[in-house]
Amino acid sequence: MQDIFERITQNPGPLGQFADYGEGYFIFPRLEGPIGPRMKFQGKEVIFWSANDYLGLCNHPEVLKTDAEAAAKYGMFYPMGARAMSGETEEHLKLERELAKFVQKESAYLLNFGYQGMFSTIQALVTRNDVIVYDADSHACIVDGVRLHFGKSFTYRHNDIKSLEKNLQRATKVAEDSGGGILVITEGVFGMRGQQGKLREICALKKKYHFRLLVDDAHGFGTLGKTGAGTGEEQECQDQIDVYFSTFAKSMAGFGAFIAGNKEIIRYLKFNLRSQIFAKSLTMPMVIGGLKRLELLRTRPEIKARLWDNVHKLQNGLKEQGFDLGDTNTCVTPVMIQGDPVEATFLVKDLRENYGIFTSVVVYPVIPKGMILLRLIPTASHTDTEINETLAAFKFIYGKLISGVYKKQAENFIKEQNLEFKAI
Ligand SMILES: Cc1ncc(COP(=O)(O)O)c(C=O)c1O
Repeated sequence: MQDIFERITQNPGPLGQFADYGEGYFIFPRLEGPIGPRMKFQGKEVIFWSANDYLGLCNHPEVLKTDAEAAAKYGMFYPMGARAMSGETEEHLKLERELAKFVQKESAYLLNFGYQGMFSTIQALVTRNDVIVYDADSHACIVDGVRLHFGKSFTYRHNDIKSLEKNLQRATKVAEDSGGGILVITEGVFGMRGQQGKLREICALKKKYHFRLLVDDAHGFGTLGKTGAGTGEEQECQDQIDVYFSTFAKSMAGFGAFIAGNKEIIRYLKFNLRSQIFAKSLTMPMVIGGLKRLELLRTRPEIKARLWDNVHKLQNGLKEQGFDLGDTNTCVTPVMIQGDPVEATFLVKDLRENYGIFTSVVVYPVIPKGMILLRLIPTASHTDTEINETLAAFKFIYGKLISGVYKKQAENFIKEQNLEFKAI
C-alpha cells in the first residue's frame, strides 16, 4: 500500500517536474495591464500573442461599457442559483435565441463554462448502449466527456477520414448488438495546430453510416464562415452538425459557452445536463455583455476582416522565413520547431527578454515528443508594427536555433545546476 501524498511528492507528473524551474515564467506566467497586443510581463512591455481574443473584444469600448453597466445594475453574481431552480431570466433566453439564430440552429442553451459544459453534453447525449467515435487530437473536455461514458468508444486518427470510416464500421457492429446509436465528436478547429476538422467529409459519411455529430467549435465560432457562424458555415455543412458547441472564452472575449441544435434535443439537454442542473447559472453581466458581443459579431464584419488580414500577414511572413506552420488553415498560428523542453525554455526566454515577444510554448504531451510548438494567436487588435517587429524577432531566433545556440545553453544549464529531468 502507498500513501497518496507520498506518491505525489515523489512524482509530480510530466510537467510538474519543471514547476520549481518554470512556475510564474513558462507555466502560469503573470501578465499585467489591460488585455491587448501589448502587455507587461515581469515589468517589461511585450507584444502579446497568447490571448484567444480573436476579435479584440476584450477591450472594445462598447463591451467594457455594457459589462460595467450590467455589473453596476445587477452585481457580479445575479441571478442566484442554478437555471432550473432560480437562475433563469428573460435575458438568458434572449441570448439563447440570438445565439441560435447566429449559428443557424433552431435553439440554443447557455452553459456556465465550456469545459464542463462539453463533457456534460457528451454524458447527457449517450447511454451505455451507445458508441462514441472521436478524433484522437480532441481537446481535454471531449476526452473527459468520453471518460464519463459507460459504453464503448473508439478514437480515429486525427482528421483521417479513412480511419474514421473504419471506426464507424466497428461502432456500427457494436451498436447493432447493443441496440444503441453512434455519436461522432470532433473539433471544428484544432486549437493547438490550427487545422479545421474535416466536417464536410465527416458529414458526407452520414449517407453511409447512421450517426449524430457533435462539434466543439471553440476556435471557429466568430472567426470562420461568411457570417462568423463557424467551421460548419465555412465548409457549407452547418445544417449537418447535430449539436454545435462553442465557448465564449475566445471570439466572445468572456466566459461561459453554449450548445445549439434542434429544439427537441436542446430542450432535452436543458433538462438533463448535470453541469447546469447542479451548478450556478451564467451571471447577468456575462449574459448582457454576451448580447453586446454578439451584436458586434453580427454587425461589424470589418472586425473579422481585420483579424484575417493580420492572420495572413503574420502567417505569410513566418512561412517566408522558413518556419514550419504545419497545415493550419485557421487563425491559430503554430510555429513547429524541433527540440526538447529545456531548449524550448531558452528560446522562449530569449524571445521574451531580448525581443519583447510573448508567445505560448507547448511541448509534449500536448504535441509529439521532440517538438516545440510556439503558438501565436493573431487578433484584430494587432497592428502592422507589432506583426513586423515579431517577424524580425523570429528571423533572429531562427538563426540562433539552427546554429544550436539554445541547445548549448540548455546542456550547460542542466550540467551546472546538476538537474535531472526525466525524459518526457
Ligand atoms: C476546443 C476547446 N473546447 C473547450 C474549451 C473550454 O472552454 P472554457 O474555457 O469555456 O471552459 C476550450 C478552451 O477554452 C477549447 O479550446
